Amino acid sequence: MEKRNTFSGKLGFVLAAAGSAVGLGNLWRFPYLAAKYGGGIFLLIYILLAVTFGTVLMITEIAIGRKTQLSPLAAFKSLSPRWGFVGKLATFVPVLIFPYYCLIGGWVTKYTASMIFDSQAAASDTFFSDYVSGTGEPLIWFGVFLAVTTLVVIFGVNKGIEKLSRILMPLLLVITVVLSVYVVTRPGSKEGVKYYLMPNFSQLSFKTFLAALGQLFYSMSLAMGIMITYGSYFSKEENIGKSARQIEIFDTVIAFLAGLMIIPAVFEFSGGDKEALSTGPSLMFVTLPKVFASMPGGKYIGALFFFLVLFAALTSSVSILEAIVAGFIDTFKSRRSATTLAVAVYGLILGAVCSFGFGIWSNVKILGFDILDFLDFLSNSVFLPLVGMLTCVVVGFVIKPDSIIEEMELNGPFKMKTYYKVMVKWIAPVFIFAILISGILQSFGILKI
Ligand code: TRP
Repeated sequence: MEKRNTFSGKLGFVLAAAGSAVGLGNLWRFPYLAAKYGGGIFLLIYILLAVTFGTVLMITEIAIGRKTQLSPLAAFKSLSPRWGFVGKLATFVPVLIFPYYCLIGGWVTKYTASMIFDSQAAASDTFFSDYVSGTGEPLIWFGVFLAVTTLVVIFGVNKGIEKLSRILMPLLLVITVVLSVYVVTRPGSKEGVKYYLMPNFSQLSFKTFLAALGQLFYSMSLAMGIMITYGSYFSKEENIGKSARQIEIFDTVIAFLAGLMIIPAVFEFSGGDKEALSTGPSLMFVTLPKVFASMPGGKYIGALFFFLVLFAALTSSVSILEAIVAGFIDTFKSRRSATTLAVAVYGLILGAVCSFGFGIWSNVKILGFDILDFLDFLSNSVFLPLVGMLTCVVVGFVIKPDSIIEEMELNGPFKMKTYYKVMVKWIAPVFIFAILISGILQSFGILKI
């Protein structure tokens, strides 16, 4: 077997993993979920889950990757042939996510162009709904985004993108800080800031837990085999715990700021009523152009902002497609370019179906969800928690936590041994299971609390 490349130093690993983690999940998905599920209470639960289950899973996945030096499919099989199916499940999730991720990437592409050419129009109330309900135009932008992702994966120009992301990701952080400060200091933002930062316990429900848990896995690219893959390239000399913490902090800070920039603006520009807060996937696209329209020079800042979101989305979509392609090549020994093209065509078809769900097929509902929302629910609220739970079970009972601890201790002592053991074996799997079941039952109205 050829020797695996390793990242050049810890920073290389952290940046690459953060490039995959930071994407639409932070900027688009987190704010609309937080708005919908009660603001402060969602934020609180998210952070609690991130420092507990998030940390445990992040460490576990990176350690599995570095220990086995294998892709997730092969890694789970090598840990235990009986539990090899967990690797398959983990690789399947990106297959569900890829089509609609690129569709939203297409929305961002469209908005970047609109900000440059006609930012005033983008701030109007009907701009978003007119756009997504169209049949042809959303497909064109979606096709462009998908094509760029596909070309990057086929020609393997990831290196160039990685270099670029060293400049653009920090810039994204700077601009989200600037925008959130601008929004928070506006006169009409008080109510919104309060809604976002003060937990209101009356809004607490199992659905909130499930949404926060799914979002955590999605945003940090956990339970999809991604961190296992990155871990397999992680140098034996570096400390896993520290790197995991840095990725988590960076990812969470960006999500937090995105919420701080969008949610108060919903109160100021769209009224803070229940309906405005629960618009879902359209929230960022409806709210931000209004913020930019209210700013001096907002046209330029808006264009730059959407461009940076576009870039963050691209680095993530590239790693999603990579994950799928690598899985197929591992299993079927197929050719790289042919496999990539085939996955792209599949993505194009299913993504188009999602897009029509906002227009000509808007009356189609699956279990009460729009088509895109259904795929999103299935992948994030069902499969991710399931894979996360199974990963804990495999580590806790099959290969035993000690083998992960041993890998962690290659570079200095691992201080939270007992905590880690209790977490992976008992607390994480039991709680994830409980959240999964009660959250699903509640989403379908079977359980009412
Ligand atoms: N974490 C990415 C984001 O926040 C999205 C994502 C979902 C992802 N699944 C993935 C990234 C798989 C890489 C691989 O937008």
